[in-house]
Amino acid sequence: MSATVVPIKDEWKANALLSQDTYREWYERSVSDPDGFWGEHGRRIDWIRPFQRVKNTSFAPGAVSIRWFEDGTLNVSANCIDRHLAERGDQVAILWEGDDPKDSRAITYRELHGEVCRMANVLKARGVKRGDRVTLYMPMIPEAAYAMLACARIGAIHSVVFGGFSPDALAGRLEGASSSVLVTADEGYRGGRTVPLKANVDRAVEIAARAGHGVETVLVVRRSGGAVGFQEGRDIWWHEAREGASPECEPEEMGAEDPLFILYTSGSTGKPKGVLHSSGGYLVYASMTHQYVFGYRPGDIYWCTADVGWVTGHSYIVYGPLANGATTLMFEGVPNYPDQSRFWQVIDKHKVNIFYTAPTAIRALMGAGDEPVKATSRKSLRVLASVGEPINPEAWNWYYKVVGEERCPVMDTWWQTETGGILITPLPGATDLKPGSATLPFFGVKPQIVDNEGRVLDGAVDGNLCIVDSWPGQMRTVYGDHERFEQTYFSTYENKYFTGDGARRDEDGYYWITGRVDDVINVSGHRMGTAEVESSLVAHEKVSEAAVVGYPHDIKGQGIYCYVTLMEGVEPTDELRKALVAHVRQDIGAIASPDKIQFAPGLPKTRSGKIMRRILRKIAEDDFAALGDTSTLADPGVVDDLVDNRQNKR
Ligand code: WT7
Repeated sequence: MSATVVPIKDEWKANALLSQDTYREWYERSVSDPDGFWGEHGRRIDWIRPFQRVKNTSFAPGAVSIRWFEDGTLNVSANCIDRHLAERGDQVAILWEGDDPKDSRAITYRELHGEVCRMANVLKARGVKRGDRVTLYMPMIPEAAYAMLACARIGAIHSVVFGGFSPDALAGRLEGASSSVLVTADEGYRGGRTVPLKANVDRAVEIAARAGHGVETVLVVRRSGGAVGFQEGRDIWWHEAREGASPECEPEEMGAEDPLFILYTSGSTGKPKGVLHSSGGYLVYASMTHQYVFGYRPGDIYWCTADVGWVTGHSYIVYGPLANGATTLMFEGVPNYPDQSRFWQVIDKHKVNIFYTAPTAIRALMGAGDEPVKATSRKSLRVLASVGEPINPEAWNWYYKVVGEERCPVMDTWWQTETGGILITPLPGATDLKPGSATLPFFGVKPQIVDNEGRVLDGAVDGNLCIVDSWPGQMRTVYGDHERFEQTYFSTYENKYFTGDGARRDEDGYYWITGRVDDVINVSGHRMGTAEVESSLVAHEKVSEAAVVGYPHDIKGQGIYCYVTLMEGVEPTDELRKALVAHVRQDIGAIASPDKIQFAPGLPKTRSGKIMRRILRKIAEDDFAALGDTSTLADPGVVDDLVDNRQNKR
């Protein structure tokens, strides 16, 4: 099968930061001489004490250790703010677009400096010091970025929890990070509705307290002005505390390897892991990828539609763009509110040049037809980009042709929470594109494809995607559990970082990510461990057993399909189905809502009791003709019942 190629256009070359040849030269050098390459590019940020040592990393079994620029010192917030003040103090740093199209705000670098310093001083006054963990549970408002940067300024470690997670999930993350300080807002706005953030925080703090974990400070930003509970002594209003806080705060001198943030993410087993990123290497990598992957030029208006609750929001709304002195647009709302044209209206309103969004949004908007797009100009756009899951060629083409009118190259960027920044991607004007392929590795990234036994596969092949050497943005550990870090990422294949993704490499060396090969599913670009949904289901009193798999979903990419075995004597009713959906939503959050629930008197198991997920996946995909060998099942009869009662007949 030979794929379509969209060759580099002359206009893209004219705008390119790098030519195709320069990409190749830099790439060669980056992998053959990482110390030389990163020693140079490591200087793109400001160091207080310059580093001497560049790379000190090992993927060796039992001795995984990742350190970059380790003897250098810096402050990340000073890099994102202070160093721009002389040249671009009056340039807009954060361009905020509210949920309501009438709401927008522009915060200059000078204003950002004052606000971040004030918030840093408020946190300090509450006793927050270097190394302390501060949990953020925020809507998409500039104060979310202030809080992240305020932590970075004083050397505290932030842990942002996505505002769509439930109080239970928030409580687990507060405990996991032993964090006693929280920053939140009264309520958030999304698509014309309010999100009860402070009420959720109050419940989370209660849940955590029952587990013996205390929260001492809740800093509350007033967003909606709605009535919320307030506990004297613990809760403080940002707008009140801000009044008395100084707009100056000396940045703390941090080591390159001091932690910058923790971000919880789902894996194939157990509870979500606290992915830990450190300061120097992360900032070098986030800023460098932001510049080259998006072809960022000073003066550009750059918009990434992610939420700051995900890593994309960390690296490509806050740290990368601000380290580069960019104007970063922060959007509070959703793609289809007030109408299906909203993204394109915002692009026209703010003259956006670079636009970075997710395939799930592209597919949903594609479903609304071309009219809402064509009603807008989009002339300002120069580069389009995508992240979060494989983008199907149909959605890629619609994005390229209808949204970008074939003027803008589409950057399909593959990466993960763990990688800190983009690893496989085209560069504008330097890479020929193929719709559906993330194309080629970024500088310093050495992908490898291996079979299930770990044998390295050369040439055009399909297999499991590994990365065989470290890059500066790589996660350093699982917070508080280095053994789990090694176990999860370095034990499947020795001396390699295993991504959990499958990939194909074609005859041109282009990578095509085929999706997760572990028990992680990707729902609308959000990562979900099937084990998490299963453990929520079995916690319900009427459920005896559950198995969860993903299935192809037109808009979400994957949907959540649950097989549920009920306790003896419990009636399988539609009401119970609804109750189980509500139960999981309450337990984890709306992003984990099951799409399909099938009541199953029995699950297909091997004689040793292992659930055969391969079979469950096939039935959920309505592809049971290809069930394969079921002879090893303890009771092959259960499969007939599962097929007869499948919830996904096409
Ligand atoms: C997983 C990581 C990192 C940004 C947001 C998601 C999938 C991500 C792509 C892409 C195909 C992609 C992978 C990956 N993924 N980008 N361009 N093409 N798949 O971060 O929640 O850590 O999820 O998202 O399966 O492993 P995340």
